[in-house]
Amino acid sequence: MVLLQITINCAMSADGKIALKTRRQTPISNEEDKKRVHMLRNSSDAILVGVETVISDNPKLTVKEKYVKTPRHPIRIVLDSNGRTPSDSLVFDGKAETIIVTNEGCSKTFPNAKTIRCGRDDVDIPNLIPILERIGIKRLLVEGGSTIIWSFLRNRLADEVNIFIGSIIIGGERAPTPAGGDGASETLEMVPLRLKGAEVLGSGVLVRYEVVK
Ligand SMILES: NC(=O)c1ccc[n+]([C@@H]2O[C@H](COP(=O)([O-])OP(=O)(O)OC[C@H]3O[C@@H](n4cnc5c(N)ncnc54)[C@H](OP(=O)(O)O)[C@@H]3O)[C@@H](O)[C@H]2O)c1
Repeated sequence: MVLLQITINCAMSADGKIALKTRRQTPISNEEDKKRVHMLRNSSDAILVGVETVISDNPKLTVKEKYVKTPRHPIRIVLDSNGRTPSDSLVFDGKAETIIVTNEGCSKTFPNAKTIRCGRDDVDIPNLIPILERIGIKRLLVEGGSTIIWSFLRNRLADEVNIFIGSIIIGGERAPTPAGGDGASETLEMVPLRLKGAEVLGSGVLVRYEVVK
């Protein structure tokens, strides 16, 4: 059986922030990186984000024809335990399939979207993985935000981490970083990475890591 390949991708500032201190989205990426991300999306079967990213950024999570001539329209997946995704979110625009993953206690349904119920409190990500494999997802792209990325890393579920470092400083103690959540409280809880490569992409740098499991 082919196991689900999971790649985390995010863009951070030179001081390690992925958004403003208000958690509002801000431009960090450049055209070269956007093209890379859209090609990465196109080579994935699904793109996953947390509900806070949908609420704060309202992303489409589609592949733009500007960057990829024949987009494949990967499935959009939102981890949303209690069904808080606003019904006017762009992920419900019908341009690609959308799945909202809630916990088992949530009965909310959404326009233009399927639902999966998984977990008692937060979405149970380790249990979600085999469900995604059964519906044919082989390559999953996790695009954030901070809390979701930590959940994947803490559970050692991601295979690769791609971080684009934009030439900008955001500053502030409260601005989110690539991996938020509870974080490691002991050295043993840190997530070891192996450097796979680094390259200059226009005005920024792309760094790629393998997650050591
Ligand atoms: N620069 C970038 O590349 C990039 C990309 C994406 C996002 N962002 C930024 O990231 C920020 C949003 O990140 P965020 O950390 O606030 O939120 P997030 O990671 O987008 O979403 C977190 C939410 O997901 C839900 N969730 C359900 N199951 C979960 C699980 N097992 N583990 C973790 N969360 C689970 C929880 O809400 P419930 O309890 O309600 O389910 C949780 O609060 C925004 O500022 C956005 O702009 C930046």
